[in-house]
Amino acid sequence: MPLNMPQVDDNNIWHPFSIQSEKHRNTYVSRGDGAVLFDENGKEYIDLVSSWWCNLHGHANSEIAEAISCQAKKLEHVIFSGYTHGQAVDLTQNILNHMPDALNKIFFSDNGSTSIEIAMKIAYQYYVNTGDTKRNTFVAFEGGYHGDTFGAMAIGASNGYHDVFAGLLGSCKFFKYPCITDGCDIESIESDVLGQIDDYFSSYGNTVIAAFIEPLVQGASGMQVSRPQFLNAFVKLCHQHNIIVVFDEIMTGFFRTGKMFAMDYIDDKPDMVCLSKGLTGGFLPLGLTVVASKIYKAFRSHDIAKAFMHGHTYTGNPISCSAANASYKILMRDATQRRIAKIEEFIRDNFYKLNTIECVRNVRTMGCIGAFDLSCNNDILMSVVNSLKNEGILMRPLMQRTLYWIPPYCITDDQMIRCFDTMFDVVSEVTKK
Ligand SMILES: Cc1ncc(COP(=O)(O)O)c(C=O)c1O
Repeated sequence: MPLNMPQVDDNNIWHPFSIQSEKHRNTYVSRGDGAVLFDENGKEYIDLVSSWWCNLHGHANSEIAEAISCQAKKLEHVIFSGYTHGQAVDLTQNILNHMPDALNKIFFSDNGSTSIEIAMKIAYQYYVNTGDTKRNTFVAFEGGYHGDTFGAMAIGASNGYHDVFAGLLGSCKFFKYPCITDGCDIESIESDVLGQIDDYFSSYGNTVIAAFIEPLVQGASGMQVSRPQFLNAFVKLCHQHNIIVVFDEIMTGFFRTGKMFAMDYIDDKPDMVCLSKGLTGGFLPLGLTVVASKIYKAFRSHDIAKAFMHGHTYTGNPISCSAANASYKILMRDATQRRIAKIEEFIRDNFYKLNTIECVRNVRTMGCIGAFDLSCNNDILMSVVNSLKNEGILMRPLMQRTLYWIPPYCITDDQMIRCFDTMFDVVSEVTKK
């Protein structure tokens, strides 16, 4: 650890999503290996949240590190307007292998929020380019989180994270996200929501630019799980009303839900898909917005006014793309696919055992994601989290009520068993007091 680390970190670094209280001291992480992070004393923490949901194959994965190193020695970056490179071409092919035929154009950027901004802007300009300038509102779901830039905040305005900026955000109509909770009548909730969306589109559909959804699992609002039946019906409804549908697969992509993409659970497909996080295996920032050719065609013109005038300096960065290609190669291997199936099975078979603990509510699982709520105050929740940390388990709560797993795929059976048993004991003990 650098000698002056606590002083500089305390005095000069402003960490994200962190209350700035004087008491707080960040844990210094010196290295990572597989699912484990090590602090300066060599204490181990099993990273059950994949360091903000992006690590797929473990920390410091040598294959991805090697690919990055090779690429850095060959071409570190190149302007992506008028120039291109092999890593972007390979990545495009890799991703298109898993997209429906109709989605065949990819716009590169450098994080999740920007891939969302791009989808919002492309949808809007699509209509402008086709002579429809009346559209002025987006549609999204309550609790949805799509990033922290202004456009992304507008379509996530109901999630509680962006309240301070409410007065500055663009227009968005929100509908209830029909997530599965203890004892709910999910079919009737879904049909109410679909009825409300249908009514809204019937009256105002011609003002809607696009509808955004986190498919199957809303992440930041607490790993809220909804059904593929709802997702399919929602996409169908949008298409009946000619509304562009955008799937935010930034968290759900790359087998988090058990399939490559959440859209693989349904028959009707979105018109745009946003990807980031797991895309590079958790090594480097990169965002992709995958666009249907029918939308892209409205931008094909000699008229500069019809061009999509958007780009970020590090758009399509070759080193980020090389990490993504290396991660994809590992992801597609039989051994990784077997691990993913094993993690899914472990989470499904074990998480519901938590229902025997008194204050546990709404246990839910979807693929490699497991979550539950605690009906206790935030101090107790934080005691649970701190006790888990003392036991060498990194979990971070959401919405002051939800604990969850979204582990790297390299996590071993022994690590999962140890984490689950410890978590069960800690939650039981701490919440009993
Ligand atoms: C579903 C979803 N969309 C968008 C984002 C924003 O991505 P980024 O943090 O890379 O801007 C996130 C980040 O957590 C997310 O979970």
